[in-house]
Amino acid sequence: MSTNPTLGFDVYGTLIDTHGVIVELEKHIGDLAPCFSQVWREKQLEYTFRRGLMERYQPFGICTRDALNYTNQILDCGLNEQQKSILLQCYATLPAFDDAIAGLEQAMATDFNLFAFSNGQESAVDQVLKNAGIRHYFKGIVSVDDLKTFKPNPSVYQYFIKKTNSDKSSAWLVSSNGFDVIGAVSIGMQAAWVHRSKSVVYDPWGVHPTLTVNSLDGLSGSLRGH
Ligand code: LAC
Repeated sequence: MSTNPTLGFDVYGTLIDTHGVIVELEKHIGDLAPCFSQVWREKQLEYTFRRGLMERYQPFGICTRDALNYTNQILDCGLNEQQKSILLQCYATLPAFDDAIAGLEQAMATDFNLFAFSNGQESAVDQVLKNAGIRHYFKGIVSVDDLKTFKPNPSVYQYFIKKTNSDKSSAWLVSSNGFDVIGAVSIGMQAAWVHRSKSVVYDPWGVHPTLTVNSLDGLSGSLRGH
């Protein structure tokens, strides 16, 4: 067992800003870019949920690609194959959120055991974290790909505990994704919900985060005091 608490950082949407694609999208579809990005992300997650339920697993990158095709059609954007391929490449170079480095520095200094914990395949997560300049903060990457299912299947949180040799009472999920927080808390893990924007509403299921922070900067202080 690890003596220090283990933190599992969700990647897409928590450390890495998926809406970083807007910059590239604007070159192709102008003002429609934010709406496209929103639909793309929501559809990508919906595909993971549905594939999980149907036990028809395909890697996260496939869900991202299929969701891009769906979004292109529903919004009638007419992106061609080359444009779509550029957008998919953007996924490997998405930026970290502004508060990520400060938050990770503080967590390292506090001697927490840091892991990235994602729906993404290990190689894709490794790449995006490297490109964003934050890979070195993590002892390892735990990917749901090992289990061929997605968050919030309870098995992936159990797997995180096992893989990091931690225990539920001292293992924390750090995530901006409400469904992820609810998934972790439901199996007895601790979870910090990163609530950066007031426009994001937490799902009213009666399953609450252990802690809510509005930035990764300061997360460690809040965790220490917990
Ligand atoms: C992840 C998803 C939730 O990185 O985007 O696991």
